[in-house]
Amino acid sequence: MAILFCSSLDPAGRWREALARELPHLETRIYPDIGDPGTIDYALVWAPPPGLLAALPRLKLIASIGAGVDHILADPSVPRHVPIVRLVDPATTRLMSEYVLAQTLRLHRQDLLYEAQQRAGIWQWHEQPDPAERRVGILGLGRLGTDAATRLKANGFDIAGWSRTGKTLDGIACFSGGEGFDALLRRSDILICLLPLTAATENILDRRAFDHLPRGASVVNVARGRHLVDADLLEALDSGQLAYAILDVFREEPLPPDHPFWRHSRIVVTPHVAGAAEVRTAAPIIADAIRRAEAGLPLRDVVDPERGY
Ligand SMILES: NC(=O)c1ccc[n+]([C@@H]2O[C@H](COP(=O)([O-])OP(=O)(O)OC[C@H]3O[C@@H](n4cnc5c(N)ncnc54)[C@H](OP(=O)(O)O)[C@@H]3O)[C@@H](O)[C@H]2O)c1
Repeated sequence: MAILFCSSLDPAGRWREALARELPHLETRIYPDIGDPGTIDYALVWAPPPGLLAALPRLKLIASIGAGVDHILADPSVPRHVPIVRLVDPATTRLMSEYVLAQTLRLHRQDLLYEAQQRAGIWQWHEQPDPAERRVGILGLGRLGTDAATRLKANGFDIAGWSRTGKTLDGIACFSGGEGFDALLRRSDILICLLPLTAATENILDRRAFDHLPRGASVVNVARGRHLVDADLLEALDSGQLAYAILDVFREEPLPPDHPFWRHSRIVVTPHVAGAAEVRTAAPIIADAIRRAEAGLPLRDVVDPERGY
């Protein structure tokens, strides 16, 4: 019995060591050295090449090295009878909430404006609103969105969130559905995207969405690059409809050197670091999923392929 590890982003050697410690009875094979495909029971993947998972006849479990599974479901040949679990790691949640809180505070405290003023040698004071006057809207109230909302709320911000199904969260205005989307946008000075990438959410950060935000709002995208229509963002920034965009994820990663986002004075680029998976904390969670699959126990954090997350 073997685990197939396939990711061009994650440290294969460290994963192999960690899995050997957790699951010494299983061999870990690192793509492309997969050996006999008929002896692979489990696959641990990030963006596997199309057709790879379908070519493993004994596959019992697919585990995503990340909270999202769009990089797996993008391959239509992925066998539908094999359960897919995603990585739900409290360490990732903490990292993500730290990032969201840090960037929200940065926008709230007008840091990007003061940084621009420093570059131009301008000593100028701007009125500083109270956090309670700063309306933050979070798209996606799942594991990450809910934690970020709670942390922002604890810092005094006026928080609202949007999800597919209706929710009740203490002290957070909850919206859902198409009308709820527009209502959330209208009351978001800072809009944070923490949605999974699905057919329903692709290109959701487009001109229409930006036009519904209050003039001078800012956008933080920490979900996936394909939520954002790049050209619409540039247009909204250049027209003044949006003040700033803080982006951790991009349609193409690494962001190509000639992409206009790199040099835009009101865009902040970070290299997909908001909530990156750590082998140390993630390996025991993946190992637990494999042990559960081996023992025939109910799996945790199973993805619904029809829903797309
Ligand atoms: N930048 C990074 O480093 C990084 C790290 C980790 C994750 N991520 C991204 O963050 C995403 C969210 O992760 P998570 O663990 O919070 O996911 P999750 O627990 O599955 O939560 C997803 C949330 O989005 C909502 N949603 C899904 N489709 C929707 C739709 N069509 N309309 C409205 N709401 C919708 C869900 O609504 P319901 O509650 O009604 O189901 C849920 O509240 C991941 O999919 C991944 O792409 C990025």
